[in-house]
Amino acid sequence: MKDRKLDHLNLALKSQTLPGSSDKRFLYEPLCGHSMVEIKPFDLAGKTMKFPIWISSMTGGTAEAEHINNNLARVCAEFGLGMGLGSCRIYMDKKGFEKQFELRKIVGYELPLWANLGIGQIEKALANNSISAIDDMVDRLQADGLIVHINPLQEFFQDEGDVFTQSPYQTLYKFIEKSRLKVMVKEVGQGFGPESLKLLMQLPLAAIEFGAFGGTNFSKVEINRGESVRKSALAPLAMVGNSAYDMLDYIRDIKKEGSDIQCKTFIASGGIRHFLDGYYFINSMPYSTAFGMASQFLIHARGEYETLKQFVLNQIEGLNTASAYLRINPKYNKHD
Ligand SMILES: Cc1cc2nc3c(=O)[nH]c(=O)nc-3n(C[C@H](O)[C@H](O)[C@H](O)COP(=O)(O)O)c2cc1C
Repeated sequence: MKDRKLDHLNLALKSQTLPGSSDKRFLYEPLCGHSMVEIKPFDLAGKTMKFPIWISSMTGGTAEAEHINNNLARVCAEFGLGMGLGSCRIYMDKKGFEKQFELRKIVGYELPLWANLGIGQIEKALANNSISAIDDMVDRLQADGLIVHINPLQEFFQDEGDVFTQSPYQTLYKFIEKSRLKVMVKEVGQGFGPESLKLLMQLPLAAIEFGAFGGTNFSKVEINRGESVRKSALAPLAMVGNSAYDMLDYIRDIKKEGSDIQCKTFIASGGIRHFLDGYYFINSMPYSTAFGMASQFLIHARGEYETLKQFVLNQIEGLNTASAYLRINPKYNKHD
C-alpha cells in the first residue's frame, strides 16, 4: 500500500495526457458497464466462433509454415476462434505439404477453418474444366469452404504473375455457379471500392473479408521481393486502395440504397492492429462482423505457443473491457 502510494506520487507527473489526444472513435462511459459483460459470439456459415476474432489467411509452403500454422490452429481450438489457411495452391499441386495445411484435427470440427486460393487459379480451373479438383482439395482439408483472394495489383507486380483474361467478378460468378463449395472473398491489402463491394454483396457469399489498405500490402511485398526499374516506375500503383474505414462507409451507403443484398457477414481486416480497432468495426458495421488480423498473429505465432496464447488472451481481455465501457462515437470522422 505504502509503495503504491509512493508510486503514485512519483509517477503522476509523468502520466499526463493532452485534452485532444484521446481515441475519438469511442465515447467512454464509465458508469454504464461492468466487468462481466459477455462478448457476442460470431457465426460464420453455420459454425460459431466464441469470439469475433479471425486469423486471416497467411502462410504455407515454407519450412516455418508448419510451426506457425500449428500454433495458429492450436490457439483457435483453445479460444474458439476461426482461421483462413494461406493459399493452398501448393498443397493442391504437390505432395509433401500435408502437415502445413491439414489442420482440421487441431482446430476441431466445431470451428471455422477455410481453404484459400487466388482468383487466378479459379480462372484457370474454369478454363480447364477442373473445378472439381478445387472442390476435392477443400474436401481433403476438411475445410468449411473456400476463400478466394482477389489480387490483381499483386499479380501485376509479381514476376510472372497471373494475367486475368476476364474480370474477377465474371470468374467468381461462374465459379459460384459451378462449384458446390461455400465461398468467401477477400483482397490482400488494397481492399474493395464501392462498386466492387456492391457486386460482392449481391452474390451468395458466406462472407466478405476486407483485406483493406492500411496494413500488410501484397503489392508492396512483391515490389520488395526484388527491385527492378519496372517495379520502381510502377510503385505508385501500390499506394492506391480502400482502408477499412473507407469500406465501412461504402457498406453503410450500400445498405442505405436498399440494393438486393445477399451477403451480410463480414470480416474487417487489413491494418487492424489490435482489439480496439476490431471493436470499432464490430460495433460500427451495419452487418454481423468479426475482425481479422494477419501480421499481428504472424508476429506472435513464430515463436513459442505461450507467446501467441498470451497475445490472444490480451485481445480477449481488451475486447471485454471495451465492451463494458466503450460506445461508438457517432460523430467520429475518420479524417479527424
Ligand atoms: C505472411 C503473410 C502471408 C499472406 N498470405 C496470404 C495468402 O496466401 N492468401 C491471402 O488471401 N492472403 C494472404 N495474406 C494477406 C492477409 O490475409 C491479409 O489480407 C493482409 O495481410 C492484411 O492484414 P494485416 O494488415 O493484418 O496483416 C498474407 C499476409 C501475410 C502477413
